[in-house]
Amino acid sequence: MPLSASKHIALINAVLTTLLFSIVYIILFLSFFTFKPLPLLVFIPLIFVFAYFISNLLFDQYIKEKLKVIYKTIGLLKPENAPPLLKKRKTDELEIVNSVVLKWSEEKKKEIEELKELAAYRREFLGNISHELKTPIFNIQGYVLTLLDGGLDDKLVNEKFLQKTEKSINRMIALVEELEEIAKLESGELVLKEEVFNLHDLTREVIDFMEMKAANHNTIIVLHSSMNRSMKARADKKRIRQVIINLIDNAIKYGNQKGGVIRISCYNFHDNYLVEVQDNGIGIPEENIHRVFERFYRTELSRSRDTGGSGLGLAIVKHIIEAHRQTISVRSKEGEGTTFSFTLKMA
Ligand SMILES: Nc1ncnc2c1ncn2[C@@H]1O[C@H](COP(=O)(O)OP(=O)(O)OP(=O)(O)O)[C@@H](O)[C@H]1O
Ligand SMILES: [Mg+2]
Repeated sequence: MPLSASKHIALINAVLTTLLFSIVYIILFLSFFTFKPLPLLVFIPLIFVFAYFISNLLFDQYIKEKLKVIYKTIGLLKPENAPPLLKKRKTDELEIVNSVVLKWSEEKKKEIEELKELAAYRREFLGNISHELKTPIFNIQGYVLTLLDGGLDDKLVNEKFLQKTEKSINRMIALVEELEEIAKLESGELVLKEEVFNLHDLTREVIDFMEMKAANHNTIIVLHSSMNRSMKARADKKRIRQVIINLIDNAIKYGNQKGGVIRISCYNFHDNYLVEVQDNGIGIPEENIHRVFERFYRTELSRSRDTGGSGLGLAIVKHIIEAHRQTISVRSKEGEGTTFSFTLKMA
């Protein structure tokens, strides 16, 4: 069994003390008296044992006092609070404190990394918001200046510019609403109102709602036969409607404008449904695919389409699905199309 630090030091100390005593005894007796080995043989074990126990006790107390300060500094009130696994494996106080401090420093390192990431993320987030707001604000400024510079009296210009101004204001309102929504979802303020509803009927309703927009983009939306009328889900219906609208909206915006087909299907998946929204659009480059759920993220391909999105839709969708403790994933091939799949609890 390995010795603890205090026992180790006590042992060395006892050996040295006994040795010193023996040498002094021998010198004294050789100088002044006739040397008698018997008392020496009796005293040696006594001194050894005495020195060992006293040293062990003192060192043990000393080390414990010092360790207390270390434990307090790293936030553990008592050495006894050290993780039990460590105590079982190691008998040496110093070895335990070594492991505890090491673990503590690793935790701190991780915390610092997380804080750094958060700080970088905040900077990026603020940059993105101001960037997204700048475009409509500068547009409005441009339209108003043109109107003030005489455009107001020009019948051809004034109405058109006012309509454009309204569009930019709507863009800003939509952005602020999306930000509010994300803030709510992240702070956990949003309470889901779960209910049992017919998934087929809800999807049909959303398709009817989006059909016009799809037609304007030369796109049709098809409800696949795998989604049958008996499918009932348990979830927050309003939120799931929002999810399906967002996914269809993307499938239209980034769809195939020469003849887009959006297919919505649904499969039984253990105790869940797997709902899929598939398009035959521009697709997402493989290197960008893992980022599409990030706030404000937009691929270069979609930016070039000038659809006016802010990159918040999928972040909201992911929040909603995860709030239901379900999952969402994406498969895509550039130039061929994209499929978003999410799960829902069966009722
Ligand atoms: N069906 C899709 N096909 C191709 N790319 C997509 C598709 N859906 C999303 N993306 C990519 O993911 C990005 C993020 O999508 P998201 O819905 O979050 O934002 P957005 O549509 O650009 O803006 P918003 O939804 O806030 O109006 C899109 O800009 C686009 O680059
Ligand atoms: Mg979107």
